[in-house]
Amino acid sequence: MERTAGMRAEEAVLRVRDVTKSFGGAAALKGVSADFLPGEVHALMGMNGAGKSTLVQILSGVLSPDSGHLEIGGHTPRNPRQARRLGVSVVPQRRELVMTLTVAENIMLGDLPTSGPVVRWRSIRQTARDALHALGLEIDVDAVAGDLTVAEQTMVEVAREVRRGGRVLILDEPTACLGPEAATQIRELVTRLRDSGVAVVFISHHISEVLGLADRITVLRDGRVTWSGLAKETDERGLVRDMVGRDVVSRRPARTAEPSEVGLSIRRLCQGRFIEDFDIEVRRGEIVAVLGPAGDAQSRLFDLLSGRRRPESGTVSIAGRAIRSGSIDRSLAGGLRCVTGDRRRLGLIPGLTVDENLLLAQDRLDRRKLHRWGRLAERAAPLRDDYRVVSLVRNPPVEQLSGGNQQKVLLAKWLGTGPAAVLLEDPTNGVDVAAMAEIHTLVDALAAEGVAVLLASSSAEEVMRLADRVVVVRDGRRVAEHRVDDITRDELIATTLGGALR
Ligand SMILES: Nc1ncnc2c1ncn2[C@@H]1O[C@H](COP(=O)(O)OP(=O)(O)OP(=O)(O)O)[C@@H](O)[C@H]1O
Ligand SMILES: [Mg+2]
Repeated sequence: MERTAGMRAEEAVLRVRDVTKSFGGAAALKGVSADFLPGEVHALMGMNGAGKSTLVQILSGVLSPDSGHLEIGGHTPRNPRQARRLGVSVVPQRRELVMTLTVAENIMLGDLPTSGPVVRWRSIRQTARDALHALGLEIDVDAVAGDLTVAEQTMVEVAREVRRGGRVLILDEPTACLGPEAATQIRELVTRLRDSGVAVVFISHHISEVLGLADRITVLRDGRVTWSGLAKETDERGLVRDMVGRDVVSRRPARTAEPSEVGLSIRRLCQGRFIEDFDIEVRRGEIVAVLGPAGDAQSRLFDLLSGRRRPESGTVSIAGRAIRSGSIDRSLAGGLRCVTGDRRRLGLIPGLTVDENLLLAQDRLDRRKLHRWGRLAERAAPLRDDYRVVSLVRNPPVEQLSGGNQQKVLLAKWLGTGPAAVLLEDPTNGVDVAAMAEIHTLVDALAAEGVAVLLASSSAEEVMRLADRVVVVRDGRRVAEHRVDDITRDELIATTLGGALR
């Protein structure tokens, strides 16, 4: 066993030894070593803030270690350009598409083919199309990146990195907010690349996904490796213990009380081809999931309910009172809170600190001014505690939080404001197993308090765990409805993807 491990390390294309990295005097990585082998999927796992993305930034030359050593094919990259030249491709957790450029331009960015001074646009579009087709994707290369769903944006970034080739491909939570179909496409792609000899570094909080895909797993906890070995040598329970340090159980509570009066009612809502004559009623204390194949209808629904966009027609009422559409303030004042699935673009304000972000929504409702600095920390403390937001230094700018902790800030910001009805888009996007269980308990508690909860989740497991009812939307229309107790997870996925139930 020792001998094999030693021999395999010889073949490693990417090697880290004793790597340490601190931010503001606090260590995010404490002596991490790992070997990444060609033809292997090596998963990195760990709770939010464990140090996974920091390690990725070191592997890709974005950060240099404070101490320790990194080697790719015998060389040590000093910056991202050198790492790229050594064959490292990376899809970072914080996605990097230029939202105002087209899909084709994004895929070809930094690599535009020219004839003399002329950029060959036709060839760009064709190459981009080929790159997408190679992954089995049907995305319009002329679409502007900012108009794509988050899932499509992820696919475009993956296509770009795969096209660039290389011997190491790092994917930091590529499937975090993807539906079952898109996530399967990503996993199939990873398997193909692995079989062609690429060393794949794969990060995910979905344990079953990792166990099904990875050859090797390294678990980080508070910046240290707590376990590393072959995937077949561990299981779900073992991984959870290595990540969290204890078992995590999350159970659907028995909702005994019959749901009461209508909390949120949407009538004949229309918006282009995305939402057509859409009707839904959510009773107080009820959790209803809206499901659809591409996520299109869900994000459009978010725009309409939050007031970012005005519907062409239709009404939205909270507890029987219609709220004026197309105004964010009216929507808030009416008691509706919409937690976006696109936290980076629509959720948090990057220049502000964690505490400021936590209080943004409260202060907007109270028409309070944020510059009451003195009490900011004191007022933010309960939210920070309830949602277990952790950071290395106290109250950093929000973008310095790990991805999962940013998600907790986003939820705390909205759910801490006494809502009457909420729309949750992928509420556990990027959070670890322990935080996921806590957030699910929190959503249960909201419902128990009589809040009407509308859920748009890309995870079938999450829908099965939280929802009472599911409403299936296709081509903007409601096509089916089921009680969660009456269907299985597989039936749920099938009906979402377009199959009829039995
Ligand atoms: N630039 C930075 N400045 C200060 N602290 C940072 C910075 N980057 C990361 N950190 C901190 O380092 C720790 C590790 O963060 P990292 O992003 O590596 O976690 P992670 O394992 O990827 O978590 P997640 O699953 O939530 O994405 C966190 O506490 C984070 O707040
Ligand atoms: Mg991360």
